[in-house]
Amino acid sequence: MAEDLPNSYKTGPDENGRFGLYGGRFVSETLMPLILDLEAEYERAKTDQSFWDEMDFLWKHYVGRPSPLYHAERLSERLGGAKVYFKRDELNHTGAHKINNVLGQIILARRMGKTRIIAETGAGQHGVATATVCAKFGLKCVVYMGAHDVERQKPNVFRMKLLGAEVVPVTSGRGTLKDAMNDALRDWVTNVRDTFYCIGTVAGPHPYPAMVRDFQSIIGKETKEQMMEAEGRLPDTIIAAIGGGSNAMGLFFPFLDDKDVRIIGVEAGGKGVNEKMEHCASLTGGRPGVLHGNRTYLLQDDDGQILEGFSISAGLDYPGIGPEHSWLHDTGRAEYVSITDKEALEAFQLSCETEGIIPALEPSHALAHVMKIAPDLPADHIICMNMCGRGDKDIFAVAQHLGQDLG
Ligand SMILES: Cc1ncc(COP(=O)(O)O)c(C=O)c1O
Repeated sequence: MAEDLPNSYKTGPDENGRFGLYGGRFVSETLMPLILDLEAEYERAKTDQSFWDEMDFLWKHYVGRPSPLYHAERLSERLGGAKVYFKRDELNHTGAHKINNVLGQIILARRMGKTRIIAETGAGQHGVATATVCAKFGLKCVVYMGAHDVERQKPNVFRMKLLGAEVVPVTSGRGTLKDAMNDALRDWVTNVRDTFYCIGTVAGPHPYPAMVRDFQSIIGKETKEQMMEAEGRLPDTIIAAIGGGSNAMGLFFPFLDDKDVRIIGVEAGGKGVNEKMEHCASLTGGRPGVLHGNRTYLLQDDDGQILEGFSISAGLDYPGIGPEHSWLHDTGRAEYVSITDKEALEAFQLSCETEGIIPALEPSHALAHVMKIAPDLPADHIICMNMCGRGDKDIFAVAQHLGQDLG
C-alpha cells in the first residue's frame, strides 16, 4: 500500500469529484444540471479575489473570526500529561463552525441569482446559521429537520423561527439528519429554478464535499498561524468530532501534508460499537456504499439498506461520513476512533468544571478522546482540539441524562 500513497494529500478530488474510491456524484438526471452549474460557479469564485474579499470581511465583522486558540490550562493539569489547546469555534456568531461554510454557499447563491435557500439540519446549528445568513441578506429560507431532532434541539428550532425560517419536521425513518437530507434533496429536484441547496457538511454529491471543506479550512489555517505564534511550532496531535465531518475536515485539511502531525477524527459511539448498530461510527463500524449522492463508508445491513444509527448528539447522528474522510481512513493519513454517549457526557462536565466552557455534545466526543490519550503523553506534547460548538442547545438533553428536571 505504502508505494501507492500520494505525495500530497491535498490534491483531491479528481475531475469527477472522487477521493480515491469515494465521493463522486450519484444523482438523478434532473439534479445533474444544477450540480454542474454550482460547480462552475464555485470554480469561478475560487479564483475571484472579490469573492474572498467578501468572505474575509464577513468572517471578520459578522462571524467574529479569527476564533481564539486557547490553552486549556486547568483541564491539562487535571488530565496530567499533554498540553491541551482548544480552537474556539464555539465563539463564532450562532455558536458553532457551521456559519463558516454557510456564508460561502449563500454568497455563491446570490451570485447565481437564487432567492430561495433550503437546508437540512441535525443539531440545528447548520439550520440556525443558514436562517441567520438568509435573514441578513433577505432570502427565503426553508430548513428540513428530522422530527426526533426537532424534539431534542428545541432551542434551535425556536431560534430558526425567530430568524424567519420555515422549519419542516421530517417524520420518515427515525426522524434524524439522514431523513432531513432526503427531503431537502427532494425539494431541490422539485424547485430547480429559484432554489439553492445549502448543505451543512462535507457530504452530498461533488462539488459539496470539497467546497464545504474549502470554506471550513479557515479553522485549520488560523490554527496553524496561531499555534506558530503561541508555541513556535505545529501541534503534535489534532482532534475533532465527526458527524458528516465538516469541522474535522476544516481543521485537518491545512495539516494533511504536515506528516508529523497526528490526525484523529472522533465518531459517535452511542451505546457502544456493537452488532446492534446503536452508534453512528461509520468508519469504525460501517462499510462502503452510496448515500446522498456520494460513495463513502455507511452503516448498512447485508442488503445495503441504510441503518438508522444512534447517538446522544443530534449533530453526530448520521449513518455516513464525508468521502474525503473515507479516503484518509483507507490511506491511513488520519485515525478514526469512537466515543460513547457516556464518555461524551463525562467530558461535557469536565469542560464545564475545569474551564468554564459549556461545550456542545458534538465536541464533547472529541474532548472525551483527549481525556483518554492526554494522561499518557509527555508534558511537551501539544494537542489541539476543535471546540466546534457551544452547549446552550444541549442543556435540556444533558439535564435529562443527568436525571434533572428543568420543568
Ligand atoms: C456543534 C456541532 N459540531 C459538530 C457537528 C457535526 O457536523 P460536522 O461533522 O459536519 O462538523 C454539528 C452538526 O450539527 C454541530 O452542531
